[in-house]
Amino acid sequence: MGRIIELDYSTVVKIAAGEVIDRPASVVRELLDNAIDAQADWITIYISNGGKSYIEVSDNGIGMDKEDLLLCIKNHTTSKIKSFDDLENLKTLGFRGEALSSIAEVSKLKIISKAKDSNTAFSLYSEGGNIIEVKETSRDAGTKVIVEDLFFNLPAREKFLGSATTELKLIEKEITKKALPFFNVGFEFYSDGKRKFVNPKRKSCLERIYDFFPDVVEDLLLIERIEKDFSFTGYISKPNFIRPNRLYEYFFVNQRPVEWKSFYYVIQNVYGEILPKGYFPAVFIYLSINPSLVDVNVHPMKKEVKFKDEQKVIKSLIESMQEVLNIGNVYNAGEKLEFTPYEKKISEAIRDYFVNSQDKSRPDFSKINATYNNYRIKEETLFSLNTEKTNQQKSLSSLRYVGIAFNTYIILEDEDILYLVDQHAAHERINYEKFKKVYSQKVLSSVNLLVPVKVDVPYVVLDDFLANLSILKGCGFDIEHFGQNTFVVRSAPAFVDYEMVGEVILGFIESLEERKSNVSDFLDESIRQMACKASIKAGNRINENEVKALLSELENTPNNLTCPHGRPIIVSFSRNDLAKLFKRTGF
Ligand SMILES: Nc1ncnc2c1ncn2[C@@H]1O[C@H](COP(=O)(O)OP(=O)(O)OP(=O)(O)O)[C@@H](O)[C@H]1O
Ligand SMILES: [Mg+2]
Repeated sequence: MGRIIELDYSTVVKIAAGEVIDRPASVVRELLDNAIDAQADWITIYISNGGKSYIEVSDNGIGMDKEDLLLCIKNHTTSKIKSFDDLENLKTLGFRGEALSSIAEVSKLKIISKAKDSNTAFSLYSEGGNIIEVKETSRDAGTKVIVEDLFFNLPAREKFLGSATTELKLIEKEITKKALPFFNVGFEFYSDGKRKFVNPKRKSCLERIYDFFPDVVEDLLLIERIEKDFSFTGYISKPNFIRPNRLYEYFFVNQRPVEWKSFYYVIQNVYGEILPKGYFPAVFIYLSINPSLVDVNVHPMKKEVKFKDEQKVIKSLIESMQEVLNIGNVYNAGEKLEFTPYEKKISEAIRDYFVNSQDKSRPDFSKINATYNNYRIKEETLFSLNTEKTNQQKSLSSLRYVGIAFNTYIILEDEDILYLVDQHAAHERINYEKFKKVYSQKVLSSVNLLVPVKVDVPYVVLDDFLANLSILKGCGFDIEHFGQNTFVVRSAPAFVDYEMVGEVILGFIESLEERKSNVSDFLDESIRQMACKASIKAGNRINENEVKALLSELENTPNNLTCPHGRPIIVSFSRNDLAKLFKRTGF
């Protein structure tokens, strides 16, 4: 007897549904697609228990009449294409006519809809794909879809879902991916009865980026290009903005968020040389292309696309990004950003403060002469490329200051050895040890900020941020919740440069985003991240006096061999090493 059997219908549809709907976030993705395709300009999303128990998406779009309502949960029913050829001219996000039927198969589904031109609303209720009830009801024009008990009939799938927090984060990511390109649609999101955000309709993608990523907007540069077959606009970050993850990289093709492998290649190609290893920029690209030149039908969840001529897109993106990053002074290039009156007031106050006061923000550099001569380090504590070590003790104060290479490496020499000190790594270690001391010994070193610093926390980590405020407080920050996702820092440790306060808090936010499960690890990681942000960057110009102050502090800092990430702070070359490099003989 043969081994092959024909699967029964209910198994087939469940397998097919699994290709489209694998977790609550996929439900949200599909329902948002439908609402946007229905021309809604306001979408409200409610979920509970990370979407595992309840998901509701309401829109004010064109709605459905009774006939369409009955059809929409059947497989392969769509109003968006009539034949495969229509994909050549696709203007909607959906086209397969399978999303609602897949959701219906694995949940208890209720759809209430009223077509724009109708006087009556209808509601439909189904369980596991079987229609239980259809009735007349009332609501404004538009559609509300409620998905309850997802996977109630697929316990194996349900078991593999993450915690409510994990699923919530994935849902937030899906909403972000839709809200960024559809900036002219308002999005409102509630989870477990709490309002997560209300992002009204915006006039530009930049305004929308600000809704979700307020910390990056000031560091963005505009890129735009029109080619024969496609065009794009977007924003990319200046090299001073770095993140240890790819949470700020988005690529949209005809407003569809896609994961395109070559996008990561483009970013690596442009930023690979200018950002430290393991760090990423912010890149938001909105590409428009004739639908006939891109295949959107290559992935069950429509996450990927295939370009007819991918090389052209890659080349154009790389060129335009390089152009914007290279022209003139990167820090002034780009579009002029608009700020709210409140932000303008704050930034003017900050500017006035700095004009009228003497750089008090770098208190560590003011004690230069007092401590510089004390700087002594043992040669064996230096990370050295030398093979021939002398046993002599070296004092940094006896070394001649030669200069700074690439605004990054402090060059020092004595008669036999050339030393390079990484200014960022050195400062990072100093700050890390200081934060640790403040935290563990409860050393009070805070100063009141004349002008408080406002920080907008991304909604994705807002709950985590609130739950971990005690770490920031323990590190010497007086920080107050101002409402929604806004916080105000009123005082900060004296050793943190005023201009860096916002950055340091963002460093803390990044460590929340990258959070390790182990709590003591998290504390250390967040402190490391904050120390990094509080430090002079590679590429920042510092003067000789500041160099001396930095080195003297380094001497008095424990563990001064490496930065908190384990990279060396100092390397040295002997006269002999250099002679060998130049193939001189007799040394
Ligand atoms: N929110 C909505 N407002 C108005 N009509 C809707 C809405 N949601 C679904 N529909 C109708 O139901 C049909 C089926 O929706 P479904 O999501 O299953 O398929 P699709 O969007 O056409 O294609 P895909 O499977 O690629 O998403 C849609 O084509 C549309 O006509
Ligand atoms: Mg759809």
